[in-house]
Amino acid sequence: TNVKQVYRTGYHFQPKQNWINELIYMELMIFFVFCMMLLKQIKSVDPNAPMYYKGYYHLFYQYNPKGAVWGNIVWAHSVSKDMINWIPLEPAIVPSKPFDKYGCWSGSATILPGNKPVILYTGIVAKKPEPGYQVQNYAIPANYSDPFLQEWIKPDDNPIVKPTSENVSSFRDPTTAWFNNGHWKMIVGSKHNQRGIAYLYRSRDFIKWTKAKHTLHDKPNTGMWECPDFYPVSTRGINGVETSVLEGGIKHVLKVSLDITRFEYYTIGTYNSIKDKYYPDSTSVDGWDGLRYDYGNFYASKTFFDPAQNRRILWGWANESSTKFEDITKGWAGIQADVDVTFTFSSLDEAETFDPEWSKLPKENLAMEICALKGTKQGGLGPFGLLTLASEKLEEYTPVFFSIFKTIDSKYKVLMCSDASTSSLNKNEYKPSFAGFVDVDLIKKKLSVRSLIDHSVVESFGQGGKTVITSRIYPTLAVGDNAHLYLFNNGTETVTVETLDAWSMKKPLLMN
Ligand code: FRU
Repeated sequence: TNVKQVYRTGYHFQPKQNWINELIYMELMIFFVFCMMLLKQIKSVDPNAPMYYKGYYHLFYQYNPKGAVWGNIVWAHSVSKDMINWIPLEPAIVPSKPFDKYGCWSGSATILPGNKPVILYTGIVAKKPEPGYQVQNYAIPANYSDPFLQEWIKPDDNPIVKPTSENVSSFRDPTTAWFNNGHWKMIVGSKHNQRGIAYLYRSRDFIKWTKAKHTLHDKPNTGMWECPDFYPVSTRGINGVETSVLEGGIKHVLKVSLDITRFEYYTIGTYNSIKDKYYPDSTSVDGWDGLRYDYGNFYASKTFFDPAQNRRILWGWANESSTKFEDITKGWAGIQADVDVTFTFSSLDEAETFDPEWSKLPKENLAMEICALKGTKQGGLGPFGLLTLASEKLEEYTPVFFSIFKTIDSKYKVLMCSDASTSSLNKNEYKPSFAGFVDVDLIKKKLSVRSLIDHSVVESFGQGGKTVITSRIYPTLAVGDNAHLYLFNNGTETVTVETLDAWSMKKPLLMN
């Protein structure tokens, strides 16, 4: 490959060439960011069917074997014992049958009784109507004794689920199935007009599937629900729970990837397994003002239950920010670090006023707009934080920071930014000022941020992960030994660094 390798991530998963991915992880709020060298405008590359089988973690992902742009989609496959060192394998599912002739799109794994994995995925049977005529298929391992699960069989009774005439081209991404009341159940993402829909399907044998009379959930004006994910979380502890668990302090999460904004949103709610309906709690908004796992480059995520460590792991695709030309010419050294810092301050008095005009901005963009407006400019309580991937003379830097504002009704708003606008002198990059508010009680006058810096990725966890932001950045000067890390405070209030831990990260031994 003629690829220069300067931006190639170290400990985030990335294939050798073409599509570039990466992984990051976090427990309970465990994240695996899976990142691809693709542009935002081009249709994406998602992590698929994550699972743990016989000692190995399996990572499948949407991959174009023929180039760095979207198309010719197959399921690439890598396995790992630790989710850091990866062994690349041959693609697991590739177009070969009438029911997936034009593409093998996103899907999920379910582990059936007897530790038998099965994959559900979307097959493209015709190119028209665009982006393709979609059906749902299943695939099973050819050899259950192979821990790598290298060979997959696509039985001839596929497809197992067909679209209705209304949604042939927006009917995809089946979820991991869950079992109750004698049935396997799964959802398929869709839309009707602009109503986003999670269609519910039931099956006794995993082969014959029947559509439920009602949806699991739907919401007007949200557009296509790509890559839905539906899973239980425990309200009693930090362990993850297996996807079919209903009892013992359980809430459910429904996450959807909205193709209009290219961001993901989730709600927390109650799943009524008799009515087979999901009801979001009033505390989480259903739609574009909703909760987000990550406020940056993050899309098409998917979770799985890891029985080896009783945790639920979330993988996402850290989508790209370059133009097409940049993506093709881009090399893939730089620093690799994990930095954890806690800031304290003695008073909140210097907090700047939260301009009432800002409240008129569309809610879903508010944090980003304020971040773009104020940036690291002089403030009151903040901005303070890290300057990551900074060049010697600060021609380039990506600040990750907090600014605290006070509203007219004396409430505090903590803004967290990961601002790529100064990240690169390259004018062709997409350099968004990603931001989110941090829902934190300032009584202790303390804020923390942990940043994972990995060449072209800066992934930051504010306040232990309450707000997470991933930025993809491509500096021209701040690379290799010329990439520096600084702490800064541009506010009038004094901020103390209470703790600072930084580790440089080794390169994985095995890399895809
Ligand atoms: C999401 C998505 C999925 C689809 C896949 C195709 O990024 O559009 O809905 O299955 O990508 O590659």
